[in-house]
Amino acid sequence: EPYLTSNFLISSSKISQLPDPAFPEYAFVGRSNVGKSSLINMLTGRKDLAKTSGRPGKTQLINHFSIAPAGDKEEVAWYLVDLPGYGYARVSKTLKAEFQKLIMPFLEKRESLMCVFVLIDARHTPQEVDMDFMERLGTKGIPFAMIFTKADKLKPKPLEENIAKYNARMLEIWEELPTQYVSSSESGLGRVEILNFIDETNKL
Ligand code: GTP
Ligand code: MG
Repeated sequence: EPYLTSNFLISSSKISQLPDPAFPEYAFVGRSNVGKSSLINMLTGRKDLAKTSGRPGKTQLINHFSIAPAGDKEEVAWYLVDLPGYGYARVSKTLKAEFQKLIMPFLEKRESLMCVFVLIDARHTPQEVDMDFMERLGTKGIPFAMIFTKADKLKPKPLEENIAKYNARMLEIWEELPTQYVSSSESGLGRVEILNFIDETNKL
């Protein structure tokens, strides 16, 4: 029962290579190894659409995927964008510079970008690099939602506590919290909610 059809479209290493902004776009971003590519595979129901790796820094380009309603291979509904990770110590300086040169301009200027999903590893307490990144998104007026990933790796109680710690930090900066989801690429947790959010946003 594939509920949507997904196809790899293009990997861009330059803004000039990006596809025409013809469809609403949803980008997935977060620290390296947070589970971006795994989540994309979980959402699309594909094992290997986005390449995953135990080694941080696997995704290095702006990767566009076209998403269509189930059984309708021709009719694209939206674009899904897998982005490289940020802020991992082992990721080279060159990659960090690339993030500044390629990813930030993409997020700031992409007219068809509807929402950035900022992925946060649910096992960790608030990380400065994530707080800084979300603060930058907020300052630039880029719409974003948070997804706490790898929920299967911890028990409900510590999960709840980590989210509460994040929210306390968020409320030091903002008056209200962004939309939030909890996900597991292992169990499929969060899939329906995230896809519904995208569908609803597309209707706006
Ligand atoms: P980069 O492309 O390097 O930035 O990483 P990424 O954020 O795309 O992470 P990726 O999806 O490649 O996953 C990194 C590692 O975490 C892999 O070993 C995955 O199997 C594992 N992983 C990702 N999501 C989950 C999850 O929900 N649960 C569990 N248990 N493991 C996960
Ligand atoms: Mg990846």
